[in-house]
Amino acid sequence: MKKILVIHGPNLNMLGKRETDIYGKAGLDQINADLEKRAADLGVTLDIFQSNHEGQIVEKIQAALKKCNAVIINPAAYTHTSVAIRDALLLLDVPIIEIHLSNIYKREPFRHTSLVTDVATGQICGLGARGYLLALEAAAELIKA
Ligand code: DQA
Repeated sequence: MKKILVIHGPNLNMLGKRETDIYGKAGLDQINADLEKRAADLGVTLDIFQSNHEGQIVEKIQAALKKCNAVIINPAAYTHTSVAIRDALLLLDVPIIEIHLSNIYKREPFRHTSLVTDVATGQICGLGARGYLLALEAAAELIKA
């Protein structure tokens, strides 16, 4: 079965408690449960990982080399700062979908720059938790044999 790595960056473990007007009321457990359900329908397996630490995210991406067929990543604040996460993603030769709950282009200017977008296959932003399901559908479609 094809495997998709889902990476949630820093502070996303606080979804549901954190700036709910921006990020919505769904907690990360709910988002992950919805993803698992949809993955089962699509016939793919997920490896879901959340970390508040840049190096742990880099190591998780490195470990995915030759082991996963696609990556869905919300690098959260590291989107705007992390050359290390960008470089790690460049190791992989699989579809990468960048996802953000909020529309980063409608927010503060420092959020308008993503170091990931031009190494990703595509980006989904501004559609809230639903964006994760759309990212999963896109990833599953891209890796369909
Ligand atoms: C985010 C947007 C980032 O700018 C922010 O730092 C986050 C979440 C989003 O999902 O909208 O933590 O990636």
